[in-house]
Amino acid sequence: MAKDLFDLSGRAALVTGGAGILGRGFCQGLADFGAKVAVVDIRQEAAAELAEELTRSTGNAAIGLAADITNPDSVAEMAAKAEEALGPITILHNNAAGKSSDLLAFFAPFEEYSLDQWREIMSVNVDGMMLVAQAVGGRMIRNGQGGSIIQTSSIYGLVGPDARIYEGSEYMGVAINTPAVYSTSKAAVIGLTRWLATSWAKHGIRVNTLTPGGNESGQNDTFKNLYSSRVPMGRMGQPSEMVGALIYLASEASSYTTGQNIVCDGGWTAW
Ligand SMILES: NC(=O)c1ccc[n+]([C@@H]2O[C@H](COP(=O)([O-])OP(=O)(O)OC[C@H]3O[C@@H](n4cnc5c(N)ncnc54)[C@H](O)[C@@H]3O)[C@@H](O)[C@H]2O)c1
Repeated sequence: MAKDLFDLSGRAALVTGGAGILGRGFCQGLADFGAKVAVVDIRQEAAAELAEELTRSTGNAAIGLAADITNPDSVAEMAAKAEEALGPITILHNNAAGKSSDLLAFFAPFEEYSLDQWREIMSVNVDGMMLVAQAVGGRMIRNGQGGSIIQTSSIYGLVGPDARIYEGSEYMGVAINTPAVYSTSKAAVIGLTRWLATSWAKHGIRVNTLTPGGNESGQNDTFKNLYSSRVPMGRMGQPSEMVGALIYLASEASSYTTGQNIVCDGGWTAW
């Protein structure tokens, strides 16, 4: 039956940034469709708590694993532990992205942007994604069962930001924007997806990008209104609205789809 195409029963999935705003919904969605889930995050406690919650709500095995995806040893150890606990991973959601601890540096004008700040974000959003694809994808190749890799980009990897939506919006007292390093890192995700898709098709591994638009997560009304006025559908997304695309890409429903990008943005990039 066609609906069985979405069934993930018995499959083992690994989600980086699994304890984050979108990650939590992604992990829950994979578990709801039957997958055993490794919740990977630099925040150990949050990952462990979510894994317990997944097992409680679905009865499926789940494990929370701490890893810093910028560190190759940490990534290798995490990939080994995930496989030991759940069996061969056949779904990888490369989803983590970094936030800066120094908001003034993160939101600084491009003309004054520091190379250290640039590298800090690139090390998570691009280097980290490469390291996880290498470690977990490498295991997929060795295990010979194929798999599906999904990598999270952003609308800002596709189009430049519209500065007008940030007028009057602050985060912890600092005027916000979308810095060039974020756009650049998210465009790189799409390049990595296409490279891996064409290189690993021979191993039965499909690789696709999932591109969310702005999701509602506690932003102030000024920002929400300005953002929404720029969206054809007239509102921000909800994290639950990103999950369907992930299940499609993770499952056999997308068995002839690789190297593509599914954009869930309420139409932001359509005009
Ligand atoms: N939320 C949105 O509106 C939105 C929009 C477009 C794209 N995205 C993308 O979706 C993905 C998830 O975003 P989110 O909103 O859930 O972000 P988030 O900050 O809530 O979650 C990111 C998670 O990654 C973890 N992380 C950060 N650095 C890490 C590291 N070095 N090693 C391991 N884990 C690390 C964090 O602890 C956090 O739990 C990101 O790739 C982001 O760029 C989000």
